[in-house]
Amino acid sequence: MSDTTLTIIPATPTIGAEVRGADLVNLNDAQFRQLSDALTAHQVIFLRDQPALSPTQQIALGRRFGPLHEHPAAPHLDGFPEVFVIHTTRESRIANGNGWHTDVSCDERPPLATLLQLHVLPESGGDTLFASTYAAYETLSKPLQELLCTLTATHASEHVYRGRYAERGVDDNGRVYPSSVHPVIRTHPDSGRRALYVNRAFTTKINELTNRESDALLEFLYAHIERPEFQVRFAWSKNALAIWDNRCTQHFALWDYWPSERKGHRVTVEGERPYFDPELDPNLDPVLGGTRAPARLRVSERL
Ligand code: SIN
Repeated sequence: MSDTTLTIIPATPTIGAEVRGADLVNLNDAQFRQLSDALTAHQVIFLRDQPALSPTQQIALGRRFGPLHEHPAAPHLDGFPEVFVIHTTRESRIANGNGWHTDVSCDERPPLATLLQLHVLPESGGDTLFASTYAAYETLSKPLQELLCTLTATHASEHVYRGRYAERGVDDNGRVYPSSVHPVIRTHPDSGRRALYVNRAFTTKINELTNRESDALLEFLYAHIERPEFQVRFAWSKNALAIWDNRCTQHFALWDYWPSERKGHRVTVEGERPYFDPELDPNLDPVLGGTRAPARLRVSERL
């Protein structure tokens, strides 16, 4: 086992970092803490030049972050219900994650983190984009932030899962499609920062608004989250592993490589029930006597 410290190289000023020097199978506790702190600080981390992890090794790594989540619908590896197989071929009708989303936000306790290793890559394409939902929240005007902090949204799944993963029984055969209500702004339990928590895949309605108001506000928020200033784009290499924090990011797996194949294993860590803590607002800087600190990131109003 190596005692060296890991090297963390930020990928953008806002989101993402590459972690170098990690032997993922033999991380000691200090190295794991560094990895976990890097995830908290950068929201998504990338590790290249890894061996292909066995299902057992990837499960063991995932469990260091917490108990594992079993996907309500997706195909899993035989004998390993915790391992979600990501696989797109010439015959695929859909590609998993091909749209902006947060993993399984329809669950009452949506996943904390996701660890994805890709073993088979197309010659080109197949990148994954990640967006910081902290940056999205922090760059909104104060009146809109204050309104959003009072709202909740419904996250449903039937429209996503019906007929999609019939082999796992999420169809009309008695399996319930998860649906939950979450705050529109959630407090991150580790960083204390606030993140926008609505996404195009699962969020169906802001509950306190009329349908038209909800549709218009959601569309604005989605477009805001998707601004390139809040993003990092990861070009995979064979056996690279990405770990993302679902509580403060969204991602989009580009399917621009048909008819090529892309394949890997995903392990997902259980999360807590999303909550909003009105007392904890890192933008209120005590040094400035409780006035709002300047936004860390400024976005242009003119597009
Ligand atoms: C996912 O949304 O879990 C898939 C991400 C990817 O395939 O890059």
